[in-house]
This record gives sequence, C-alpha cells and structure tokens, in this order.
Amino acid sequence: MVTLPNYQSLETIPLESGAQVTGLPLWSGSGAALTWTLDLDRLQSLLRPDTRLVAVNFPNNPTGFIPDHDTYRHLAQMCHERGIVLVAGEVYRGIEVDPTSTLPHAADLSPTAVSVNLLSKSYGLPGLRVGWAATQDTALLASLERLKHYTNIRNPDITQHLAAAALRISDRIHDRNRAIVAGNIALVAEFCAEFPDLLAFEPPQGGCVSFPRFLGATSAAAHRWVERSAGLRPLKQDAGQHRGRCLTRRRAAASPKSLRARLDRLVPGPALAG
Ligand SMILES: Cc1ncc(COP(=O)(O)O)c(C=O)c1O
Repeated sequence: MVTLPNYQSLETIPLESGAQVTGLPLWSGSGAALTWTLDLDRLQSLLRPDTRLVAVNFPNNPTGFIPDHDTYRHLAQMCHERGIVLVAGEVYRGIEVDPTSTLPHAADLSPTAVSVNLLSKSYGLPGLRVGWAATQDTALLASLERLKHYTNIRNPDITQHLAAAALRISDRIHDRNRAIVAGNIALVAEFCAEFPDLLAFEPPQGGCVSFPRFLGATSAAAHRWVERSAGLRPLKQDAGQHRGRCLTRRRAAASPKSLRARLDRLVPGPALAG
C-alpha cells in the first residue's frame, strides 16, 4: 500500500517487481475545502489479508504533509501487529517548518519498521549519493545488505568522510536549509495569492515540496503553462480526483533569485482562466 499522491518510485518499484499496489488517499474533502490527512480507519479498510508492506514518506513528497505523533505511532503499531512492514521514507525529516512536528524514526517505533534516509534532501547534499536504511529486524537488514552488494560493495572514502562530517553537524545544516525553504515558501505563497481563482496553495508543513492545486479548467493551454516552467511539472501519475489538476513543485530549495525568476515566467495568461 502506498500513499496517494506519492513519490513515484514508492508505487512503481513494487509494481515492477510484480506486486499489486493499493493507494491510500492522503486527503479528505475536495476543492477549496481539501485537507491533507492520514486516516487510519481508511487505511484499515483498504488493507487486504495479503498486504505485506505499507510505504509512506513524511514530511510527504509531494504534499508537504506531516501527521501528528500519535497517529504515526499508531500506524507503526498497527502495521507491526498485522505482520506488515512499514517502510518510512524520512528524506525530508529535519526541515519541518515547526521543529516540534518532527516525527520519531519509524525504526524506533516498532521492531519491524524500516526507516530509509539519504543526504540529498534535507541535508542538501545530492552529489554524495549516500543513503541508508535502519531497522531493528536484523535478518531483513542482512538481506538488504546482500542486495546492496550487488550494486556496489563500498562507497569511496572521500564520500563516506564527507557524509560523516555532514551527519556530525546535522542540526546546523537543517537550520540553514529550513531557513532557505521558509523564504522560498513565502515567495510561492505570494505568487499563488496573486491568482486566487487559479491556484490554491497550502504551504508545506515540512520538506521542500508542496502541492499547489490548479483550479482552472484543464486545457491544452493549462498544460503548456505548467510544462513551460522548469520548477513546476504536471503530476503525471493517477492521483485520483486530482488528476490533471495538480502541480508538484520541485527544487523549492533553489536560490530565492532563481525561484522568483521561474515564478515570473509563470504569470498565467488569460487563456488559462478557461
Ligand atoms: C521521498 C523521496 N525519496 C527518495 C528520493 C530519491 O532521492 P535521490 O534522487 O537523491 O536518490 C526522492 C527524490 O526526490 C524523494 O522525494
């Protein structure tokens, strides 16, 4: 089971490996009243007797949503009790708008949950190509290690050295990146507020991705408008009722100047009002 909308690989990797995938909508309500939520009753109703894995990522890409601590703990417990592995992408952890909303690591919440993280998002170090998985399930960890050795045995020393240095000052790095994202969220909010009939923007609670909704009519002009921008792209996968009406924002951690320049290129023409 994967959340909807999702970071595409969470859905395509299990599909490619022959699994069946169920989507758990992360929203309730619709239109201007739509809110992001993690509804465990809904999750429970969608679980099948043979569901083996639930994949989530919070702060969520693409919505920027973070569930509250109790709901998250309950999710981990529910999965464990049912023999389902919870895989939690924690790649935007550390740059929550409100640091008190930072969730515990899933791997600390249950003996079977797996936390997956890397340095390319909240650490802003994509060039290092360093990531990791953590779980209390040592058998699973050994199996992950064997799989990993097929792709490479060992990262270069320089990469490991830089990664360790970054982890030692993680708070400083996260503070810096949180400030950059906060400034850019303000720019996007300001831009969207100029076009209230066309764009609904809910600032992300964490991470550097958000999900402004396009409220205009779906049209070729609207599609071209989205594609013209380097920083926004139309959501290609099926996101239920959102299909064709959503934008995901990439690279909100870009410099304010380049983000502003990209937003300026996006000023919608009259054709979009449809
Ligand atoms: C939730 C999530 N997980 C994993 C990744 C993969 O990161 P990378 O491209 O650095 O491997 C991304 C990239 O956007 C992501 O958003």
